[in-house]
Amino acid sequence: MTLLEVSDVESGYGDVLVLHGVDLTVTEGEMVSIIGPNGAGKSTLLKTVAGLLSTRSGEIRFGGEDIADVPAEEIVYHGICYVPQTTNVFGNLTVVENLKMGAWALEDADFEDRVERVYERFPVLEDRPDQRAETMSGGQQQMLAMGAALMLDPDLLILDEPSAGLAPQLIDDVFERIADINDSGTAVLMVEQNARRALREADRGVVLEMGENRFEGTGEELLESEEIAELYLGS
Ligand SMILES: Nc1ncnc2c1ncn2[C@@H]1O[C@H](COP(=O)(O)OP(=O)(O)OP(=O)(O)O)[C@@H](O)[C@H]1O
Ligand SMILES: [Mg+2]
Repeated sequence: MTLLEVSDVESGYGDVLVLHGVDLTVTEGEMVSIIGPNGAGKSTLLKTVAGLLSTRSGEIRFGGEDIADVPAEEIVYHGICYVPQTTNVFGNLTVVENLKMGAWALEDADFEDRVERVYERFPVLEDRPDQRAETMSGGQQQMLAMGAALMLDPDLLILDEPSAGLAPQLIDDVFERIADINDSGTAVLMVEQNARRALREADRGVVLEMGENRFEGTGEELLESEEIAELYLGS
């Protein structure tokens, strides 16, 4: 079943339009990777879905509901959690405090229970509950950002460049955790510079360029395409 449906969306900043009628769907439990050159509008698309930017035109539906005008602070009630490209943890808060912040929208929260589940997924967090986030490595901070997003048990997890700036070993770790999260039923929509890896992991890939859809297909189809390889995969 279709979970997220973005249809013909235009959005941007001030007077500048960045997305010129973009379409995107994510079905339940699916993993979709968005790739494309710098400045293509990938982050803008994620921010628009997450309610940080409003649409100029077009529709965004989630679980059949119109969410185009739902602001970022309410989007979580609809089952969407968004982890931005940078500054995605509270540096001066500890691990456990960050997880509490992630759980802010929980009603009659079983906080302990959720924390246990996040710790199972990210043992690196359980080892250091009282460490301040800003003193953790990039990979650990990325795990924390994802852990905090998972506190609310979203139907869709949106990740903007989860592997950016990480050492190769940590990149593997982060992608493995994302695959686990997806295997447990959470749909994942991610943007990645690491395009080859992102397409290998994903059920479907979407190529954006200059604020427009360029190509779309299964991860395999896009990886096998010579045109995609030449234009977007650097070979
Ligand atoms: N806050 C902003 N105010 C004005 N223009 C912006 C803002 N953020 C992004 N833009 C512009 O919107 C366009 C798309 O940017 P966006 O961040 O969506 O690209 P991207 O595909 O995520 O690129 P990258 O791969 O570098 O992260 C760019 O031309 C950028 O300069
Ligand atoms: Mg970006």
